[in-house]
Amino acid sequence: MNSIDRVKELIDKRVKARTGGGEKRIEKQHSQGRYTARERIEKLLDEGSFEEYDMFVTHRCRDFGLQDQSYLGDGVITGHGTIDGRIVFIFSQDFTVLGGSLSETFAQKICKVMDQAMKVGAPIIGLNDSGGARIQEGVLSLAGYAEIFQRNILASGVIPQISAIFGPCAGGAVYSPALTDVVIMSDKTSYMFVTGPKVTKAVTGEDISVEDLGGATVHATKSGVAHFRAESEDEGIMLIRKSLEYLPQNNLEDPIITECKDPIDRLVDGLNYIIPDNPNTPYDVKDIIYSIVDDEEFLEFHRHYARNIVVGFVKFGGMPCGIVANQPNYLAGVLDIEASRKAARFVRFCDAFNVPIVTLVDVPGFLPGSTQEYGGIITHGAKLLFAYGEATVPKITITLRKSYGGAHDVMSCKQLRGDINYAWPTAEIAVMGAKGAIEILYGKEVGEITDPEKRKQFVLEKEKEYNEKFANPYEAAKFGYIDDVIEPRNTRFRIIRALRTVATKKLTNPPKKHCNIPL
Ligand code: HXC
Repeated sequence: MNSIDRVKELIDKRVKARTGGGEKRIEKQHSQGRYTARERIEKLLDEGSFEEYDMFVTHRCRDFGLQDQSYLGDGVITGHGTIDGRIVFIFSQDFTVLGGSLSETFAQKICKVMDQAMKVGAPIIGLNDSGGARIQEGVLSLAGYAEIFQRNILASGVIPQISAIFGPCAGGAVYSPALTDVVIMSDKTSYMFVTGPKVTKAVTGEDISVEDLGGATVHATKSGVAHFRAESEDEGIMLIRKSLEYLPQNNLEDPIITECKDPIDRLVDGLNYIIPDNPNTPYDVKDIIYSIVDDEEFLEFHRHYARNIVVGFVKFGGMPCGIVANQPNYLAGVLDIEASRKAARFVRFCDAFNVPIVTLVDVPGFLPGSTQEYGGIITHGAKLLFAYGEATVPKITITLRKSYGGAHDVMSCKQLRGDINYAWPTAEIAVMGAKGAIEILYGKEVGEITDPEKRKQFVLEKEKEYNEKFANPYEAAKFGYIDDVIEPRNTRFRIIRALRTVATKKLTNPPKKHCNIPL
């Protein structure tokens, strides 16, 4: 073979590799509304930036007819490219090749890019679309998964790890995405479960569809496994790009500050009267978030899960930040098991990647009742407490209205090393609400008043007295627990100035092997 033939051979091999499992299977993939693994990479990365590794890798299996079925690349496309000019490493499972099933060599290809990502200090993105362990390869496949899991674990908190699920993701395969920072599922075309409907029926008798067991809606609303349910793969791809905008390349870098055209001192007059006069009337905290952040842009995580707390990425004066806000519009913004877990995970995510946290507080307390207690609200609530207390990134807290009891302490209070804690004049910072307090303090006396009218009058008077003393921010401000009471319309500016003031903050936790967070 002369050199021209050799180049031709290379080109032919590349063409063959790029065809994956063949035209028929590609057509099938398209007919189901799914892109191929290569199309996904093309759409995700900056144009022309992708460089592929291991295109010529093939599996080594000689059993069950696989010796006659070999595909260049072995069903997963790996390599690196850029997103908005920044390096990322990527693997994209190719369902057209043996159902995207994971073999020994398939796993080795993924491990190679994960190792490169760790060496370089750049994000790793996994696009999942796979029938799981390649059955013909037996334990080699299981070992391959474990190699990936181990790398996910070591990379956690070092480089951002983002998973998109664009097809099947079943069995133990679900644990790689679950170990990553962001999980995105495409609606109606993806599913995740440890055990599929058939085994579920055989073992428990439960008859359930794939969608109801592990579709995107289930994981975005009920289990919380998915941070995002994307309407389409295109939206899923956009969400990957968007998430990275707020994150640094690794834990030793800071997120990139971008130019901000939205005036930092923009007043939002409506905020001066957004809090209803009746403390029990709800309002939408997202209206506040959108009005104070740059350009009304808010990348909300877990939008459909534990809606009593709102979390996501925003920018303040061009600085990427995490927002955590109680949502009075849903369950009065109470903290329960799901809300505590959701917010704790997000706070730790921000802290791991040097993203400052802005907390908006309007919380009536923890949800009472046996369901919560039996479910371990003590442990789950402690997660959020732990996450805030452990976080060393800049922490700015604004108390909008209620901040009661244990929930006050949990929600980034001063003593959990809150850097700057502001309150609106509408803030109520106390051990509990007036009603509960009067019942406890005066229950006996109230019981002794036989005349219902007099009893009612007595309770109202005591509640008024209590509210006058505690339903305000000044009692906490008196002790320096609140640094300043601010005019609501000026909140955007005060947050940005606070963030700029504490941007150079240096705080480290005591040396330890790792903490023992109440998992
Ligand atoms: C080998 C597989 C495969 C697998 C699919 N294929 N899954 N080959 N190992 N795990 C092959 C099929 O034989 C078929 O080959 C091609 O991929 C496309 O699959 P279809 O079944 O035709 O596609 P579809 O009808 O869309 O169904 C998709 C599917 C189904 C629901 C994912 O393929 C399926 O149930 N696969 C098995 C899933 C599974 O049980 N996996 C193991 C999970 S346990 P041909 O040549 O006919 O086109 C696991 C343990 C991990 O993964 C443990 C980690 C710790």
